[in-house]
Amino acid sequence: MTVEHAIRVEGVEKEFGSGSSAAIALRGATLTVPFGGITMLVGPSGCGKTTLLSIIAGLLRPTRGAVRLLGRDLLAMSDRAQVDFRRRSMGFIFQQYNLLPSLSAAENASVGLLAAGVPRRAAVGRAAALLSDLGLGQKLDSLPRTLSGGQQQRVAVARALAHDPSVVLCDEPTAALDGASGRAVMEMMAAIAVRPDRAVLIVTHDSRIFDFAHQIVQMEDGLITAVEQRANPATPTPAQAA
Ligand SMILES: Nc1ncnc2c1ncn2[C@@H]1O[C@H](COP(=O)(O)OP(=O)(O)O)[C@@H](O)[C@H]1O
Ligand SMILES: [Mg+2]
Repeated sequence: MTVEHAIRVEGVEKEFGSGSSAAIALRGATLTVPFGGITMLVGPSGCGKTTLLSIIAGLLRPTRGAVRLLGRDLLAMSDRAQVDFRRRSMGFIFQQYNLLPSLSAAENASVGLLAAGVPRRAAVGRAAALLSDLGLGQKLDSLPRTLSGGQQQRVAVARALAHDPSVVLCDEPTAALDGASGRAVMEMMAAIAVRPDRAVLIVTHDSRIFDFAHQIVQMEDGLITAVEQRANPATPTPAQAA
């Protein structure tokens, strides 16, 4: 079976609470995320971006609507199948790097592999190789508190990519970073995104990184209101891609 889209969200509604205290976060959002690039989901605070991302991640159930990931019906999967699917096929990067303070950079980057049952030596080795690719070869044994924000986020990027996921979901990955660090993280995201079997979805309101998008999806008040295709997104500089 060929899978046409990485992510397909159709008519997704989400209501928190009920009755007079109900908050409607999504009002029928429909969205397609293609393979082979970066889709950015943008819109004002409170419009429903994180709610939609959480639903795609399987961390929140929609009130109504359908979600297909890599061609599979997410809502039809059992909880156990969802957990398994997440571990194998999805990677997550958040604004807060969520690194474990007592683990080294290489150990932090390998936690997903360890959770998936990869033996420790192989997991840390794979994580170390990725960190070296990301320019952190000298920091493998460093604890998170000794790293800059940009370096910590690169460890989080390595952790998200270590198991070679097809779908990478990011919520405000550059919001806590200065311009240069945010750009360095995005150069890496651009380098890993362009693969026919991978898609990267980034929630952001950081306009400094919009030029890395292949597609920009605008959200307002619980609805997708515009989709813009970009012909020539920024590509990594040769030094970054090497
Ligand atoms: N757990 C929750 N309980 C109640 N309301 C929520 C919850 N999560 C989000 N909301 C509401 O849903 C709307 C969308 O929130 P969110 O998805 O976090 O927006 P964004 O990420 O775009 O800032 C907001 O009005 C928010 O207050
Ligand atoms: Mg949010």
